[in-house]
Amino acid sequence: MRTAEPGTGKAARTTQRPRRLYAYVNGKIVPAEKAVVSVFDRGLVLGDGLFETVRAWDGRPQFFGLHFKRLSKSAKRLRISLPMDEAGLERLVDTLCAKSGLTDAVVRITLTRGRYLGGLAIDPSLPPTLIITVAPVSGLPPALYERGVKVAISSINKAAASGLDSAIKSTNYLANIFAKAEADRKGAYEAILLGPHGEIAELSTSSFFCVVNGKVLTPPIETGILPGITRQVLLRILRREKIPYGEVALFPKETDQMQEAFLCSSVRGPLPITRIEGRKIGNGKPGPVFRRLRDLYDRECDADASSAVDASAARPTSRSRSARR
Ligand SMILES: Cc1ncc(COP(=O)(O)O)c(C=O)c1O
Repeated sequence: MRTAEPGTGKAARTTQRPRRLYAYVNGKIVPAEKAVVSVFDRGLVLGDGLFETVRAWDGRPQFFGLHFKRLSKSAKRLRISLPMDEAGLERLVDTLCAKSGLTDAVVRITLTRGRYLGGLAIDPSLPPTLIITVAPVSGLPPALYERGVKVAISSINKAAASGLDSAIKSTNYLANIFAKAEADRKGAYEAILLGPHGEIAELSTSSFFCVVNGKVLTPPIETGILPGITRQVLLRILRREKIPYGEVALFPKETDQMQEAFLCSSVRGPLPITRIEGRKIGNGKPGPVFRRLRDLYDRECDADASSAVDASAARPTSRSRSARR
């Protein structure tokens, strides 16, 4: 197992090489290269589906209760029936990780409306397509967590581009793909998408946080952002630790007032931002609030892992955080 330097945060650590990857498609577990769906699947033909990306540690999906809640809520809003409950899905993820020889993995759960029969009408009697894949985590270089990343501001307006409820993690990521392409052109790591009033919404694949006058701030859900699971976990930590925070509208012109900034997602955890569109954040280095939150987030990940282990005596005991580093 390759491990990162201590203190770079759990998310920086990478995994061992898998034996052979396995995937689940509509009731069957098969080697990933043999996993196929129909060319007539509405997920492919119409982008009619949704997904979750989950990080697994010790072969167990992290914060799975929160991921399942978002998945089932989105499925309900899209009127796609979720053919499995939380325990069933979690068991499948455990099995896929174990069969693939992965302890640390990126898990993707995709649910589509199933067979395309022509036209757009919804036929609730047709079965959905459920796909689960696992892959090794291609961890970011630990130095990135120490140095931070530069991000750009995208010209794409999130509200105008998405149209549907932003709480749905739909399989249509075109706005985000083109925001990321803008970031690449500018030599930036990711791009910030703006909300309906030009306020900061989120990044192409992550949520946004900053520190202004010692207070941790993040855009509210009403900005039209995905309710990120990592964002949710960080807000829970801020509340519990009584660290001053707020969910408020933030504008790019306020960049100069930010002492710190960071992005976060399930796969990467919190990652410091040191420049926004060329403007330095604070002293241009990851700050103390980020480092404190990253350590608290690591501990929250461990607490989640051990509570899940407690809940199932059949599962192996989770290794300690220091052993994983
Ligand atoms: C647009 C967007 N916002 C935020 C996030 C972070 O969400 P989470 O913390 O649930 O991974 C993601 C993750 O893929 C995303 O695509």
